[in-house]
Amino acid sequence: MTHRPLMTRRSALTGLGAALLAAPAILRPRPALAALTGRPFAQPDLFEGVQTGGRRVFDLAVAPGRHEFLAGVETETIGINTGFLGPILSVRSGDPLRMNVANRLAEPMTLHWHGMHLPAAADGGPHQEIAPGATWFPEWDLRQKAGTFWFHGHQHHKTAAHVWAGMAGVIRVSDDEEEALPLPRTHGVDDFTLILQDRRFDAAGQMPYAPDMHDRMAGMLGDVMLVNGQSEPVLETDTPRIRLRLLNGANGTFYRLHFADGRAFHQIASDGGLLAAPVPLADLTLAPGERAELILDLADGAATQLLAEAWGAEVQMMGSAGIRTVMDIRPRRALPAAPALPERLAELPPIPERTGETRRFKLAMSGMGMMGDFLINDAQYDHGRIDFSVPLGTVETWIWQNTTPMIHPIHIHDVQFRIVKRNGQPPAPHEAGLKDTVIVNPGEQVSLRLAFTDYADPVLPYMYHCHILEHEDAGMMGQFTVV
Ligand code: C2O
Ligand code: CU
Ligand code: CU
Repeated sequence: MTHRPLMTRRSALTGLGAALLAAPAILRPRPALAALTGRPFAQPDLFEGVQTGGRRVFDLAVAPGRHEFLAGVETETIGINTGFLGPILSVRSGDPLRMNVANRLAEPMTLHWHGMHLPAAADGGPHQEIAPGATWFPEWDLRQKAGTFWFHGHQHHKTAAHVWAGMAGVIRVSDDEEEALPLPRTHGVDDFTLILQDRRFDAAGQMPYAPDMHDRMAGMLGDVMLVNGQSEPVLETDTPRIRLRLLNGANGTFYRLHFADGRAFHQIASDGGLLAAPVPLADLTLAPGERAELILDLADGAATQLLAEAWGAEVQMMGSAGIRTVMDIRPRRALPAAPALPERLAELPPIPERTGETRRFKLAMSGMGMMGDFLINDAQYDHGRIDFSVPLGTVETWIWQNTTPMIHPIHIHDVQFRIVKRNGQPPAPHEAGLKDTVIVNPGEQVSLRLAFTDYADPVLPYMYHCHILEHEDAGMMGQFTVV
């Protein structure tokens, strides 16, 4: 893997200074592009929508935008109500929702609500295409537990390009159960949302989506680490404990998150909401599409950094792409320690018994040459083919077998599932909660239990796919109906 890190600001200045000394004045070199680091940590605004006609209504306009990632350079992007990414939609369990999604791009797009249990017609997958200039307005009632969800483009063959350009945002769900707990939850004070991504820039500071053959295999990795579109921002804090809501919004990069001083933290939530109990960890790997909420204690007043070791789907052959700084965390002072975390967080019902089918999914690559196709059960995605139908009201087991030498994070629409077994063993505690995206490593077999409740549609399907967006666009996706 050739990852050429952009120069940091300091090395760029040194390089420029050295070049000016060495070169005749007339050959004044252009300064190298440098990531804009060291700014105060910023996060998207909370957006509560407006109450109209008995629904909480969100107006979302997807449009070409601009954003300053590199000092002094305006990079062309796609944004949702803003220049890059979108607002944090703040919603409450039980809310009747309506989304007005306006497509102000010159090409068709969709917007998918990742992790949401909703009717297929509202899902925003490849079957809910929005023409340029048109507005799509799905409605559904929010049936989720409190947690961190997200939304992103899902146009077939364009998902990777659209997300790369910035078509993504976070959905923050609250409920009574979560609010009864003594946890940090004040946005911007002790509760912070982090959209983790990385991007690659060209010599002009633009970030065209132009994957080469290797990127299509390994996933499109960038060399500039971003959190909410910023490089290495500084978060100054005034509280003894903070909550970090993390989304891996990268196209194809896995992040092993940990702190520079090795401090431990607790994971309190996975994709679909709170875990049964806080899980103490020293590091946590998030695949593209996964979310986690962490609690970090800062009462000692010591500064630290959130670091991410980054790698692509081919890590077992190619190794990791190195450790990057996500952000600096600087408590303004030492404080008395926060009280102990609650021992129990949420009522996690036992994994439901299977009442319906057991289905098997084999992840494979055809032709082990350079341009293998990515396959599920020997087939590529076909927009006109429904792979199977699930009877409404049944509980199924889905067994995923990875026969490729790459990691595939498998995502299933409509349901929050439970992991029953990974290679015959029960899941680790931080994977034992509600999930919608699960890592399936090379050679692994992962067995899931899924309950299909509430919504049936004889025609419109839901998707299941690898969340490495290059793999998804290459056809590692299938579709099912609930009938
Ligand atoms: Cu996050 Cu089918 O998507
Ligand atoms: Cu999804
Ligand atoms: Cu994959």
